[in-house]
Amino acid sequence: VVFSTSNEASICVAQEIASLIREKQANNAHCVLGLATGSSPIKVYEELVRMHNEEGLSFSNVITFNLDEYYPMDKNSMHSYFYFMHQHLFNHIDISPENIHIPSGTVSPEELHQYCIDYDLKIKEYGGLDFQLLGIGRTGHIGFNEPGSHYNSGTRSITLDHITREDAAPSFLGINNVPKKAITMGIGTVKKAKRIVLLAWGHNKASVVKETIEGEITSEVPATYLQNHANTTFILNEEASQDL
Ligand code: GLP
Repeated sequence: VVFSTSNEASICVAQEIASLIREKQANNAHCVLGLATGSSPIKVYEELVRMHNEEGLSFSNVITFNLDEYYPMDKNSMHSYFYFMHQHLFNHIDISPENIHIPSGTVSPEELHQYCIDYDLKIKEYGGLDFQLLGIGRTGHIGFNEPGSHYNSGTRSITLDHITREDAAPSFLGINNVPKKAITMGIGTVKKAKRIVLLAWGHNKASVVKETIEGEITSEVPATYLQNHANTTFILNEEASQDL
């Protein structure tokens, strides 16, 4: 779906999420959301916060699982996705802290493997992701599933692609400060979501958006795996759709 502006598009996505939360509330059920970081979802979070403040949208039944975190990474670092999510969403809504799940960048290397298995198990225990919000990296990654990721991969640690580290370099004040690794939900984890919405804005996403939507399904562009998910929508602004 192509919108003329990313603002309009983000408001529409926030409305879908709010409707889902309210529908689950009406049935006394949890709403399990998979959440993303990066610049793309910021306006969606801003709109959800507005709905909380002005329309009484409650997040008391919401359970969240974030896609990824740099590794190693301290929670309190301004570069952490933990910090990002609290700054843009969690600090401003009525979600219980115990309902928030973000991969921890401080797990010891020895515990990491089991930690990742447990992350997927926890999602399963809550009945799976009702809704997964995604952005897309220039390498075609979703979460931090870089080229080469298996379609059935679970949550795991991954080595970041050079392009991904280059894209992150400005906010880290130089590529040498960007962690070389991350923890990411797997493609298999994401694909089990009942509903997936991927956001892409701007000219610099146009070519990866074209490859993702029109190209062959390949591990070289992991987002192409979404082509055979039954309920995925790509939400684009005009610039991101210009090569289609
Ligand atoms: C990071 C995140 C991804 C995100 C991507 C795109 O690599 N791990 O989940 O989709 O950046 O970021 P942006 O939305 O800023 O373009």
